[in-house]
Amino acid sequence: MTKTRPHPFMIKTFEGAGQGHVFDHHDSLDPDRQVALLSQLEALHLGELAELIALMDAPPAQTSEIAPLDPLVPDAAQRATLAEAGWEALRAGRVAVLVVAGGQGTRLGWPGPKGTYPVGPLSNKTLFQLFAEQVLALGARAGRPLDFYVMTSGLNRDETEAFFEEQGRFGLAPEQLHYLVQADLPNVTLEGRLCFTAPGELATSPNGHGGTLFALRDGKALERMAERGQDLLFYWQVDNPLCAVADPVFLGAHLAADAEASTKVVEKTDPTERVGLVALRDGKPGVVEYSEMTPAQQSQRTPEGALAFRAGNMAVHLFGREFLERVSAPGFELGYHLARKKVAILNGAGVLVEPSEPNVVKFERFVFDVLPHARNHVTLQVPREEEFEPLKNAEGPYSPETVKAALSSRAARWLTAAGVEVPDGVSCEVSPLTALDPEQLRAALEGSPPASNAAGISV
Ligand code: UD1
Repeated sequence: MTKTRPHPFMIKTFEGAGQGHVFDHHDSLDPDRQVALLSQLEALHLGELAELIALMDAPPAQTSEIAPLDPLVPDAAQRATLAEAGWEALRAGRVAVLVVAGGQGTRLGWPGPKGTYPVGPLSNKTLFQLFAEQVLALGARAGRPLDFYVMTSGLNRDETEAFFEEQGRFGLAPEQLHYLVQADLPNVTLEGRLCFTAPGELATSPNGHGGTLFALRDGKALERMAERGQDLLFYWQVDNPLCAVADPVFLGAHLAADAEASTKVVEKTDPTERVGLVALRDGKPGVVEYSEMTPAQQSQRTPEGALAFRAGNMAVHLFGREFLERVSAPGFELGYHLARKKVAILNGAGVLVEPSEPNVVKFERFVFDVLPHARNHVTLQVPREEEFEPLKNAEGPYSPETVKAALSSRAARWLTAAGVEVPDGVSCEVSPLTALDPEQLRAALEGSPPASNAAGISV
C-alpha cells in the first residue's frame, strides 16, 4: 500500500485552527494508519472543536438556585392503580426500552463491556442476560414483545454485539434487539491541542450518555418507534441489575402526570453518599451532582429528620418519544460537561508519557440535562433494597460483592413472602424468567415449593 499524503488544503485548515501539529509525524506512520488518521481527521468538525475548546476558558456558569424536591412515594393502593395503567401501556405495545452501556467502566477494571460481567449470585448470569430475560418475561406477560435498544460506543460496540449474538441474544428475536452506537469526541490537552494515544491514533472518548439522544435520532430508532406505535422509552444504566425494567408502576405514574420525562430515585440517607440528586434548579427539576452542593446543603434536614436533598438519582428515566424528537433536533442546546483526566499521550517527540496529573480534557453530554425542558416531570421514589445496587467498583461499595448480596437478599425476601422457608445466610436467586415481582413468584411457586441445595435456593 502506498503512503497517503494529506491534501495541502487540509493541512492549511488544521493549521488555521491551531491544530497543524496533527500532521507532524504523518510521514513515519505506516500506510494503513495514515489512511485511518486522515479519515478520523476528515470526520472531525473543526467548528465544533473550536466551540469545545472555547468552553475551557468560559467563565463558570452562573450559579443556579438549588432547592430540594419531594418525590412521589405512592402507597400500596396507589401503586396498584398506577401499575394497572402501566400494564395497559405495555399490552398496547407503547413501550420500548434502552440500556446505556457505552461507558468505559474504568473503575471496575473489567476488560470487556460492563454488561458482560457475571453477577447472578448462583447462576453467574451476566448483567446483559438478566436484562434480556426481564425484557423477554415482560413481553410474554404483556402479550407484546418489547423492542430492546442497547446503546454502545465505539469502544465496545463490536464486543457487545458479538457477545449477544454468541449467546443467541438470550432468546430475544433479531427484530427485537437493536444496537445503537454513540459518537466519540476528541480529547484535547489543557492547552486545547488534539493529542494522540499511539502513533496516528487521536485521543477520543464517548460523548457521554447524552449521546443517546443523537444515537436514537441518527440510528433511526425514533423513526422506528413512531412506525411501531411506541410513544414511551424506558431508559436505564447497564450497571444496575436490580433495575425493574419498564416497571408498570413507573409507567403509570408518568402517564397519570402527563409527563414528558420522569426519573426514579432512592432515598439518600447518608449525606456523604456520592450520588446525583434530583432537585429543583431555578425552579425546574434536574439532576444536581454531589460536587455541585455545599456541605450545608448535603446535610440539610427536613423537620421530620430526613435529608432535605434525598432524591438519589438512580439514572432510570422514562421519556416520551415526541419529547426525545424535540431535544435531539438540530438547534436544541444540550450543553457539555468538561472533565480533566489523566491519559497517557504522545509528547511532541512521539514518546508515550504517563501523566502524574490530569493532562487532557474530555467533553461529555449528560442525558439528564434534558429534564428541565420536559413539560411535566415525575420523580418516583422506590425502595433502595428492591431496585438499586449498581456495579461501579472492583471492591468496597457498589462492587461485585455488594451487588450479588443485594440480588440474593431481594430474592430471599421474595421467596419468604411466597411462603418459602429461607435459612439465614443462604444464597438465593430468582430468575426473571420465573418472576418479575413477589406476586408473580408466589403464583409461580404455588404447589411446587423450591428445593434448596448446598449452593442455595434458585428458582
Ligand atoms: C451516574 C450519574 C449519577 C447517578 C448514578 C447512579 C452521571 C454524571 N451521574 O453516576 O447522578 O446517581 O449514575 O448510578 O451520569 N455511559 C455511556 N456513555 C458514555 C458515558 C457513560 O453509555 O459516554 C453509561 C455507562 O455505560 C453507565 C452510565 O452511563 O451505564 C453511567 O455512567 P457513569 O459514568 O458510571 O456514571 P456515575 O458517575 O456512576
